[in-house]
Amino acid sequence: MTPPVTTRATAPQILDRCRALVRPALTQAVRRLHPWPAEMAAFSLGWSEVGGRPVPDPGTGSHGKGVRQALTVLGAEAAGGSGADAVAGAVAVELIHTFSLLHDDIMDGDETRRQRPSVWKAYGTGPAVLAGDALFALAVETLADSRNVHSGAAVRHLAGTLSDLVRGQAEDLLFEARPWTGPEAVSPGEYRTMAGHKTGALLGCAAGLGAVLAGAPAATADVLTRAGRHLGVAFQAVDDLLGIWGDPRVTGKPVHSDLRRGKKTYPVLAAVSARGPAARELVALLASDGSLDDADARRAAALVEEAGGRRAALAEAHRHLDRARGCLESVPLEPAAVGDLLTLVPFLVDRRL
Ligand code: IPE
Ligand code: MG
Ligand code: MG
Repeated sequence: MTPPVTTRATAPQILDRCRALVRPALTQAVRRLHPWPAEMAAFSLGWSEVGGRPVPDPGTGSHGKGVRQALTVLGAEAAGGSGADAVAGAVAVELIHTFSLLHDDIMDGDETRRQRPSVWKAYGTGPAVLAGDALFALAVETLADSRNVHSGAAVRHLAGTLSDLVRGQAEDLLFEARPWTGPEAVSPGEYRTMAGHKTGALLGCAAGLGAVLAGAPAATADVLTRAGRHLGVAFQAVDDLLGIWGDPRVTGKPVHSDLRRGKKTYPVLAAVSARGPAARELVALLASDGSLDDADARRAAALVEEAGGRRAALAEAHRHLDRARGCLESVPLEPAAVGDLLTLVPFLVDRRL
């Protein structure tokens, strides 16, 4: 029997379509920067090498997946607008995302991103801080200057997100010093709040911003924002998994760096609170003085898996995907765009980078 013909776009096709729509405006925005931060911005977006030589055909690893810009485009379409309404918002979220990664690599001491040196490794910490600031300012300017009549509301929508993102990064960094067990340990609820802030806020903003720019009623923008926020928490739980079991040649990021820094990631939090010998050995290993060497980190990863941390993090991600789907089904939205959003949902979890 011949399989039924399906015309539904795949997740990579949806991401490509949205990226193609946004790229000209993103390129134009980056050109407004001072040439030095512009070069660092182009490097971190995967468009050029250190020194500014353009990358002829950026591979899939060196530029981002473009999830946030796609959520903005699809948010506008879901709310009955067109993707074109959302372009300034998509540019703004992509610039904020790039800024946040650039500063995050300094905070986390991570030396690689997207298979290349992080910006602070390539250009120095001071210049990387400046490039992040430049991207942040450019994002706000791009949205405020857009000719969309809803740009004022859109800037307000973005402003709250920025405070949440900073709050999440503060929580993430402070959690590093907290113990793994006892009354001071980080609870699953605290983890969710932190992940909701550091990652959920921007994904939520991205989806809701599309609706705001399309002039949708507040209730529609709220539902899309909530859906995006759940997608963000799911995305972060998977990011935590990839930081332990991902292949650095695929993720482009270092492996075991979170374990070494005592980051309170979901798989490890779930594993240390489990019962049994693997959890006990893990707690002892993580509590030992000095940082983990390569062998310790590999042992810790194996113990996290044995104690059920990997399974628990995936289950957490799926719970949030289900909530995101529930949000999308709770109000009337454009079916084709909702179809695209629902296609992206599993892709956010079944990913290797
Ligand atoms: C990044 O969190 C969140 C922000 C940049 C705001 P992580 O530190 O967990 O992300 P990766 O693993 O470095 O990409
Ligand atoms: Mg990081
Ligand atoms: Mg971080």
